[in-house]
Amino acid sequence: MILIDGKKLSKKIEANIKTEVEELKANGVVPGLAVILVGDDPASHTYVSMKEKSCKNVGFYSIVHKMPDTISQQEIIETIEMMNNNPRIDGILVQLPLPKHIDTTKILEVIDPAKDVDGFHPYNMGRIVENLDAFAPCTPVGVMEMFKEYNIELEGKDVCVVGASNIVGKPMAALLLNANATVTVTHIYTKDLSSHTKKADIIIVGVGVPGLIKANMVKEGAIVIDIGINRLESGKLVGDVDFENVASKCSYITPVPGGVGPMTIAMLLQNTLKAAKGRTKWKTFYISYTIFQQVGLAQ
Ligand code: GUN
Repeated sequence: MILIDGKKLSKKIEANIKTEVEELKANGVVPGLAVILVGDDPASHTYVSMKEKSCKNVGFYSIVHKMPDTISQQEIIETIEMMNNNPRIDGILVQLPLPKHIDTTKILEVIDPAKDVDGFHPYNMGRIVENLDAFAPCTPVGVMEMFKEYNIELEGKDVCVVGASNIVGKPMAALLLNANATVTVTHIYTKDLSSHTKKADIIIVGVGVPGLIKANMVKEGAIVIDIGINRLESGKLVGDVDFENVASKCSYITPVPGGVGPMTIAMLLQNTLKAAKGRTKWKTFYISYTIFQQVGLAQ
């Protein structure tokens, strides 16, 4: 059994990002991320401070707009629009979940798709499904990076994705399909979960149910990727896989913590860097165009 070390891989990716940021800074560009955090959900506050810390480590400019959960939808929309028009901001992230009176779909649709570093805008989601260049959601793309790093071939593999959320399960399935895997997506209405997981070469689970995947649901030699992060009453952090009993059956498995979690943040940084590079591309184009205009080669 090989433990997939997401912590180590994320550190390697973040070191490369830091080097690229230094080069960008030499050209006058500092990648910028704006986070919108509504309400006082402790888990969301923890995630956002981890994101802020990582931004600082790689040299990004970052701001967090903290809002009370009594805020109106219109005020959130106005803040996003302000960030859409702020040239220092390359990436915008609205931490989910939002309070019940806010329409999450409407909010996500206001984000400029070119700054949608979470990859949640329907425009980016559609492009992912069509296997076009886009911002892909950070957790699924982090899992794909793990497969790449550990030379895990996906073509022709039977993959069972457990969970069909817009943030994880659906984009995960699209990325796997693009890599020529045979994908089964299971969810809360699936009749016999075990009949699907038992057949799978690879199981990817992210539903927030501690210990859902048991040893008798996993084929010998399978690869198991655990996206779940659950805090038990004892304070212990566990995933959706019964790790102690499942691990010995696997060829590869991710731990919790130290597996997919750190990769999600590394991918957020990678997407923000990509957005910032897009900014420099437009800047270079604009400068060249202006010079061409001045010498009469463009109108
Ligand atoms: N809430 C849980 N996971 C995520 C995530 O990846 N991005 C955002 N914006 N909110 C989340």
